[in-house]
Amino acid sequence: MNEFEKALSEVMQCKKCRLWENRTNVVFGEGDLNSKIILIGEAPGLNEDKEGRPFVGQAGKMLNETLLKAAGLERNQVYITNVVKCRPPKNREPFEDEVEACFPYLSIQIQFIKPKLIVTLGNIATSTLFRKFNLKFASMSQIHGKIFNVSTLSYGNLKIIPSYHPATALYNPRVLSSMMDDWKQIGEIVKTLT
Ligand code: URA
Ligand code: SF4
Repeated sequence: MNEFEKALSEVMQCKKCRLWENRTNVVFGEGDLNSKIILIGEAPGLNEDKEGRPFVGQAGKMLNETLLKAAGLERNQVYITNVVKCRPPKNREPFEDEVEACFPYLSIQIQFIKPKLIVTLGNIATSTLFRKFNLKFASMSQIHGKIFNVSTLSYGNLKIIPSYHPATALYNPRVLSSMMDDWKQIGEIVKTLT
């Protein structure tokens, strides 16, 4: 078993934080393990918890459409996961201690897939990754679509681009339009990744 498979079998039984108590399924992530791109959301919602897959509800449809329309990417060309792997009650934001307890899984995913680009979807994913990479997180409106080049021993050289969470674009046309612009740019950058 490689590190990724070990983490996968461990996460299925995980009780490292209180979020295990109400979950139906753990949502580890899905997609192309050879992809140069990882997308990181916040946490599973109702549909994700039911199916054990990330971004399968309304936000997921929005994400799939954005990927395809703006960036020319099929969903199966990227790897998609979340900061926490179990659904928080009533879709509340995950607490800091839950994010910390779950982070080792995300860390293994990133180290195994070795992406050249991480796109963080929304505030929770962005603030978490920024903290881990010692970047300063201001507000999403200030930093969305910007490229942050990072280089660490554990993760190598990669770009982080924050953008809006697709759920926030569902009912807000201005967010939708900014998110589409971000993804057009991301589509161009993806072509240059080697
Ligand atoms: N929202 C998220 O942040 N992640 C999902 O998997 C679904 C909705
Ligand atoms: Fe474990 Fe993460 Fe689920 Fe918490 S959210 S129980 S740390 S898998």
